[in-house]
Amino acid sequence: MTETPKIIAIDGTFASGKGTLAKRLAAHYGLAYMDTGKLYRATAKATLDAGGDPDIEKDASKAAKSLGKRNLDEMLSDPTLKSGPIGAAASKVAVHPAVRAALLDLQRDFADQGAVLDGRDIGTVICPDADVKLYVDAKPEIRAERRHKELLGYGEEISFETVLAQLQERDARDMGRKDAPLKPAEDAHYLDSSHLSIDEAFKGACRIIDAVMAGKFDA
Ligand code: C5P
Repeated sequence: MTETPKIIAIDGTFASGKGTLAKRLAAHYGLAYMDTGKLYRATAKATLDAGGDPDIEKDASKAAKSLGKRNLDEMLSDPTLKSGPIGAAASKVAVHPAVRAALLDLQRDFADQGAVLDGRDIGTVICPDADVKLYVDAKPEIRAERRHKELLGYGEEISFETVLAQLQERDARDMGRKDAPLKPAEDAHYLDSSHLSIDEAFKGACRIIDAVMAGKFDA
C-alpha cells in the first residue's frame, strides 16, 4: 500500500491556486493545513495597526514576534487579512530577515503534527525534508483575472490592469528578495495551473504525490 505523506510543501506565485489546492490536499490526506501567507498578512496588519511602517524591519519584526502570543486560529481567521492592501504590505514585511526568523518556529512546529503548508519558502526553508514538494504557477494574466474576480467579490473597486500590475510587482518583490526568495526547491514538482480547473489541479497533484510516495515518480 502507498504510504501517506506527513508533510506536503506547496509553494508558488500569488493567485496560482495553491491555497485552494493545498486545502483540498490536506482534507484528502487527513493532514492539518496552514496558509503561511496569513502569518505575513497578520504581521502586516499588526504593524499597520500599531502605527508602524511595513518597510521598517524593527516595526515589522516587533509585530511578527507578537503573533506567537496571540490565539493563532482566531488571528488567522480574520477576513480582513485577504484584502489587496494587506497582501501588498505582507510582501513588504516578508522581505525582512527578522520577520522571517520570528515566524519560522511557528511554521515548523505546526508542520510537525503532519500538515500541508502553502507559501513561498516551504520547500526551500521551512520544511526542506517535506515528503512531497509542489511548485504551483500560472500565467500572470490568468492569475490576475482570478484575483480580479475575487476582489470584485469582496466589493473592492479595482481594474484588471491595476491587479495585473500589482501582481507583477508582488512577484518581483517575492522572487527578488535576498532572504528566502520565491523559487522552486530543487526537488519540487512543477504544476502549471493556467489551464486547469480546480478538480484537474487537485487530481494532477494527487497523481504526483501518490507516485512520489510509492517511490515511482518518473515524470
Ligand atoms: O500567499 P499570500 O498572498 O497570502 O502571501 C502574502 C505575502 O506573504 C506574499 O506575497 C509573500 O511576500 C509573503 N509570504 C512569504 N512566505 C511565505 C508565505 C507568504 O514570504 N511562506
